[in-house]
Amino acid sequence: MSLLLNRNSFGNTANTGNVLSKDEASLLLNEWVLNEKLRIHMMQVAHLMKSWAAEKEKLNEADQWRWEMAGLLHDADWDQWPDQHCNKIITELEHRHIDPEIIHAIASHGPNHFGVEPVSMMDKMLYAFDELSGLIHAYSLMRPGGYDGMELKGVKKRLKEKSFAANVSREEIGDACNRAGLSLDEVIEFIITHQSSH
Ligand SMILES: [Fe+2]
Ligand SMILES: [Fe+2]
Repeated sequence: MSLLLNRNSFGNTANTGNVLSKDEASLLLNEWVLNEKLRIHMMQVAHLMKSWAAEKEKLNEADQWRWEMAGLLHDADWDQWPDQHCNKIITELEHRHIDPEIIHAIASHGPNHFGVEPVSMMDKMLYAFDELSGLIHAYSLMRPGGYDGMELKGVKKRLKEKSFAANVSREEIGDACNRAGLSLDEVIEFIITHQSSH
């Protein structure tokens, strides 16, 4: 089964700045994603995207929401239409005249699967947070204290254990950090700090 999108252009630049309201985005999330674990994953990635946009990129609130929205909806079609991931959500957002940057970020969140290269920092951070956020969350669930006292070295140990969260591609994590120009340690530390409060 190929998920290749076979195109590199998404949405229309005339729609730059167009977003869903928070209510519209949660409605879509709740209607499309029935699996609670997946919803939690999407909300965690959304929170990381918003936090990064605010703290590291120093973006204003409107831009923070654009980053957050990309995180919130990146896997919207994965639960009910896995064979149409992520074509279905992209097409939906195009129909709703959403900002092409948000659509591009979603389209490039798995370059090996969708064949779209991450270009902007929004693209790159969504790619970098996606798998790593899931692995760190899985690690929190097996620790008695959850995120309490979680350390960088513990996460790195889990990363080296191939059997732990085996479906998480270590190669993609490394590739994503490289593309973003960030060290693996920096991204892990950011996730530990921000995901724990969420
Ligand atoms: Fe995905
Ligand atoms: Fe994801």
